[in-house]
Amino acid sequence: MTELRRPALLDPRHDTWEQFDCGEPILNEWLRRYAGQNRRRDTAATWVIADANGLVVAYASVAMTALDRSSAPGVVAKGAPDPVPALLLGRLAVDRRYAKLGIGTALVAHVLATAVELNEKAACCAVVVTALNPIVRGWWARLGFRAFDSDDPDQLDLYLLTSEIEATLRRGR
Ligand SMILES: CC(C)(COP(=O)(O)OP(=O)(O)OC[C@H]1O[C@@H](n2cnc3c(N)ncnc32)[C@H](O)[C@@H]1OP(=O)(O)O)[C@@H](O)C(=O)NCCC(=O)NCCS
Repeated sequence: MTELRRPALLDPRHDTWEQFDCGEPILNEWLRRYAGQNRRRDTAATWVIADANGLVVAYASVAMTALDRSSAPGVVAKGAPDPVPALLLGRLAVDRRYAKLGIGTALVAHVLATAVELNEKAACCAVVVTALNPIVRGWWARLGFRAFDSDDPDQLDLYLLTSEIEATLRRGR
């Protein structure tokens, strides 16, 4: 297996992603067609892990978001302004050829560390993500993400408090 680089912002001049295949066509398509567009419009930043040749093997898109206080989990809403500042992990995908090697976890850990930095500089109460499906929800739960509505077993909207991130990162070490 080729050596992989640390997470870095997608660089259209050096990275290549035409062959990226995570097994989910929508997520492949987003990287090909919309990652650059979102960056140019300042609507999402895409972080990637690439191999030594710049071939993207995993990506995560992130953007600032705001949670409607009335629909936020109690622990998020308590004492918070409306809306509540948060970081959206909009998309995450790992190329099938590199699955189950810890790369997805490493990229999420990088985004979580970014949330901690943002929180210090501008306030960010939680990281939120919508799991692709109920199976992937279990993957997020491993990292400490919980459902917005803990009583709803079909709930795919998940959050992790920024104050809980350090514990998650420590567990990953
Ligand atoms: C989901 C995805 C990002 C995971 O990335 P990955 O790099 O393969 O995952 P990692 O190697 O970091 O994690 C694997 C670990 O998660 C565990 N795991 C995998 N699926 C799990 C699940 N549903 N529930 C609990 N644990 C799970 C594995 O057992 C493994 O644990 P171990 O390290 O103790 O052996 C990747 O499979 C992917 O891109 N899938 C297609 C797109 C997608 O679903 N994206 C998520 C959008 S919300």
